[in-house]
Parts: sequence; structure tokens; C-alpha cells
Amino acid sequence: MSTTGHVLVERRDGVQVIRPNRPEKKNAITRSMYADMTAALASGDADQEVLVHLFLGVPGAFSAGNDLADFLAVAQGGDLGTEVWDFLLTLAGASKPMVSGVDGIAVGIGATLNLHCDLTVATPRTRFHTPFVDLGLVPEAASSLLLPRIIGHQRAFALLGLGEPLSAEAAAAAGLIHAVIAEDRLEEEALSLARRLAAKPPEALRITRQLLRGPRDEVLARIREEAESFRERLTSAEARAAFHAFLSRKKGG
Ligand code: COA
Repeated sequence: MSTTGHVLVERRDGVQVIRPNRPEKKNAITRSMYADMTAALASGDADQEVLVHLFLGVPGAFSAGNDLADFLAVAQGGDLGTEVWDFLLTLAGASKPMVSGVDGIAVGIGATLNLHCDLTVATPRTRFHTPFVDLGLVPEAASSLLLPRIIGHQRAFALLGLGEPLSAEAAAAAGLIHAVIAEDRLEEEALSLARRLAAKPPEALRITRQLLRGPRDEVLARIREEAESFRERLTSAEARAAFHAFLSRKKGG
């Protein structure tokens, strides 16, 4: 299924695990990785054998967010393609419960993806970080709608406006995640939660999730609205300077 080898997909006991696997780049997500994740999510959502989606990362890195080299290419006049938006719309449109197990780095989409998950467990060393503004960008994945809804405007603004990272402990206290779990037990616990959900009557669970999540159209509309600004911002001088600064930061030693 994977075209890059950087996304591992595995199905077990009604649970489909989707795992970005690019440890050398802290699981930064490229356009083709988004395409692989979208394909896995869509096919799992359509397959009766799959009852729950589970997102995992690699040790120490759930994901460092969108690959900044891809963003820099756009800032320099390249094409962003549709992969990011296809993924976000598929993520928000999925009908089956989603669980995530987060360890360590959770930046950008590595943080906002979890807003679409119904149960997230994270390790004590996890930091959720959404430095969109510092990159000259704006929030994505409907985080501008979902984050304040879950944790309130002030805390959401500290994350999305100030770009302050949030520890797993603070995320749990704020109701953003289900529980903090030690590193050596994280995947076992995430899988156990997913399996417990997979054992429930699927239709009752699907409707329950839908009721709790509320109208999907609102979320999809916000993703599109954010995308308009995001696309514009990607070619701004602010963004170009930020991507360039990150990608060239080690060249001088
Ligand atoms: N895009 C592209 N490459 C990335 C990346 C990203 N988002 N995040 C990390 N990498 C690369 C680094 O460039 C480095 O590559 P290199 O070894 O070839 O130089 C490698 O992954 C390891 O990253 P490094 O920065 O050395 O690890 P760290 O543990 O010191 O820091 C982060 C980890 C995530 C804090 C830091 O890499 C970072 O800030 N990344 C950018 C996050 C970001 O802004 N994402 C976009 C959100 S929209």
C-alpha cells in the first residue's frame, strides 16, 4: 500500500495501525507520506474488517509536522499539490473511531491530527507544539475550531497564537488527551484502547462518535477556510524566511 516506505500500515484484530516511519527526520511528513496515509485511512474506513484507526509514531517522535523542505519549495514558487488537504479532509471525514499513541515530538500536524482522535494517550516527554504563527502560517486541520472548543480560547490561543508547547500532563489536565502513559507501555495501552473499541457494537459506537463530534460539515468547512489562508501564507516573505532559517540552521555548524 505504501509508495514511500515511510508509512507503515498494519491491520490486527479489527484495528488498522497507521504509522509514519521516518525517524531520521523525526517523522516529518512529506507529500507522498500524506498520500499514503490518506489511502490507508480511506481504505480502512471503507473496509468492514477495520473497526478502529490507530495512529502511532516512532520512539521519541510522533511527528515533527509537515516536511519544511516541501513547504520551502512552495514558498519558492513550487506547487503544494493536494496531498495535505486530501489527508485533512479524509481525516475529518472518517467515520470510525480513531485512537492515537503519542511519544515525544508532536509538532504541527503531529499535534493537530490528535484533535480528530477520540482517545489519545501520550508519554510524559511528549510536547504538543503548534508554532504556525512563528512560521508565518496559520492553524490547519480545523485546529482553529476544535482546539478552543476542547480547551477554551485562552489555552488554545497560547498554543496557536503564542506557539507555547503543551506538556502531556497539561494536555491531560486540559482535557486534550485521555491519559499520560509511560514510554514502555504506550503502544500496548494505545492498542488495548483500540481493541476495546473494536470489540463494541460498531454501529452503536459509530453513531455515538458522530453525536459527540457534532456536524462534520462545520469541521470540513473550517479546514477549507484555513487552507485558503494557509496557501497564501506559504508564499509570504515571513514564511519563506522561517523555512529557510530552519533548513539552513545547521550549515554554519
Ligand atoms: N521538516 C523537515 N525536516 C525536519 C523537520 C521538518 N518539519 N523536523 C525535523 N527535521 C529534520 C531536521 O532537519 C534534521 O535533519 P538533518 O539531520 O538532515 O539535519 C532531522 O530531522 C532531525 O531533526 P533535529 O532538529 O536535529 O532534531 P531535534 O530533536 O533537535 O529537534 C524538532 C526536533 C522537531 C524540535 C525540530 O526538528 C523542529 O523544530 N522541527 C521543525 C518542526 C516544525 O516547525 N514543523 C512544521 C510545523 S507546521
